[in-house]
Amino acid sequence: MNYVSDSFIKERVKKPVLVINFGGQYSHLIARRVRELNVFSLIMNYEHINERVLREINPCAIILSGGPYSVYDEKAPRIGKWLLEQDIPVLGICYGAQLIASLMGGHIKEGIGEYGRTKINIVEKDLLFDGWSNDYVWMSHRDYIIDVPDSKIIAYTSNNYIAAYKLRNKKIYGVQFHPEVKHTINGTRIIENFLFKIADCKKNWFVEDLVKSLVDQIKGTVGDRDKVLIAVSGGVDSTVTAYLLKIAIGERVIPVFINHGLLREGEDKEVVENLSRIGIKPLYIDAYKRFLDRLIGTCDCETRRKIIGEEYARIFKEIMDRDPSIKWFAQGTTYPDVVESGTIPHTDKIKTHHNVGGLPEWFKVNIIEPLKWFYKDEVRMIGEKLGIPKEIIERHPFPGPGLAVRIVGKFTLKKLGIARKASKIVEDTLKKYGLYDNVWQAFAVVGDDHWVGIKGDKRVEGYIVTIRIVHSDDGMTADYHRIPYEVLDEITAKITGEIPEVTMVTYAVTPKPPSTIEPC
Ligand code: XMP
Repeated sequence: MNYVSDSFIKERVKKPVLVINFGGQYSHLIARRVRELNVFSLIMNYEHINERVLREINPCAIILSGGPYSVYDEKAPRIGKWLLEQDIPVLGICYGAQLIASLMGGHIKEGIGEYGRTKINIVEKDLLFDGWSNDYVWMSHRDYIIDVPDSKIIAYTSNNYIAAYKLRNKKIYGVQFHPEVKHTINGTRIIENFLFKIADCKKNWFVEDLVKSLVDQIKGTVGDRDKVLIAVSGGVDSTVTAYLLKIAIGERVIPVFINHGLLREGEDKEVVENLSRIGIKPLYIDAYKRFLDRLIGTCDCETRRKIIGEEYARIFKEIMDRDPSIKWFAQGTTYPDVVESGTIPHTDKIKTHHNVGGLPEWFKVNIIEPLKWFYKDEVRMIGEKLGIPKEIIERHPFPGPGLAVRIVGKFTLKKLGIARKASKIVEDTLKKYGLYDNVWQAFAVVGDDHWVGIKGDKRVEGYIVTIRIVHSDDGMTADYHRIPYEVLDEITAKITGEIPEVTMVTYAVTPKPPSTIEPC
């Protein structure tokens, strides 16, 4: 996906902010903070940046992300000093700040790690901190900057490490901390100062105003005759996509709902009902047998993703073969999916997410992805503008391969039943306590490990179910929900009470990274 060659976005938003990614876990967060300030942002990997690309993008400002490397590592991602000579304001964050310092001939050294809430002392007045009156920031680094030639130091930490600097006579800044994370209180103010007081960025990103353009773009792409197939899951991305298609091409959109047997309890009925309330009447395809037959006995989730992707594609192809006027296939792909699926080389492919990686090679169709430039919160804004009901817009994300990625180890129908019932208990209990809308996802996972239990005075070897309830902004990073004990107690009692095969319930408390949200 290319900003420069995509006329939809290029014509509507000039002078974006370019976030150059060096593999940092917060790169998306930086891009989202910028967009929250109504300036369009793009993420590109450092390897794709050269002078020609930069000229074509013509950004109003550049932000260099953090990254896991030390600038002196052999494999450290680098960019030439030419980037600092372009007369474009640059803000380097964490690794980005160290990289600028090193490009300037400064020195970096391994020091005492500064992690989490850290006090800084501002020693020089500067526009970057204008109106920011806090003392604490969020740090996550071990290397520190010793010196930056030709610069003024704006702030130090209590270890006397450089926390912020500015190159003299240039609008180039480095901050060792992370203004983009919420733990840096009012950190957005620092980004805002950089965009509007230091750089000359203009507010050019108002998602709701793009709805008409999106509809026009679909009309222009699909034309007057072709039909478009879309698989709807009831989630916000596919529903908004289907709704936009419906406005654009009316009855020529063919929504299908595939029951692959990996849904949550009661989900198929609920989804079909919800969608019909907004005039989307999907073709219901009961295909659970063909999916489950192939999944039973599989031991790893990547194999399952592949099988599920293939089986989906076969069903789509069967439908398309029956009606040759269906020439397009629509997907609710969003911006992180696209970025995570490989426009960023040298980042490991962690999981083949169905939206982007799961369709087989042989499934060659015209793909239309109207939401590919948007983050999920922006898709929700579009959904709201379209009048899509809250139950759909605020529904938790649910992976395309459904419960198949919540079964660790061998896939069996027994474990599928456990995951389904336990997940329903988790969701229902959160809804009962008014907590469902406050979290990103909440579900139950089952593996092969057993725990001895006593049920009805009898020794039983039962399954262990792990509960995962997380907060996240975009699925790229996450932290576990600090769930009140009484809610956890209720979930535990219900799971062990209502599912006889379960003898132990555990709660997953590891953030992403180092963990991921789904277990596999
Ligand atoms: P992870 O587990 O990678 O999940 O931390 C991040 C987000 O992606 C969802 N997810 C998937 N979505 N197909 C999807 O459509 C998949 O195979 C898949 N795996 C994970 C996950 O639920 C979370 O919201």
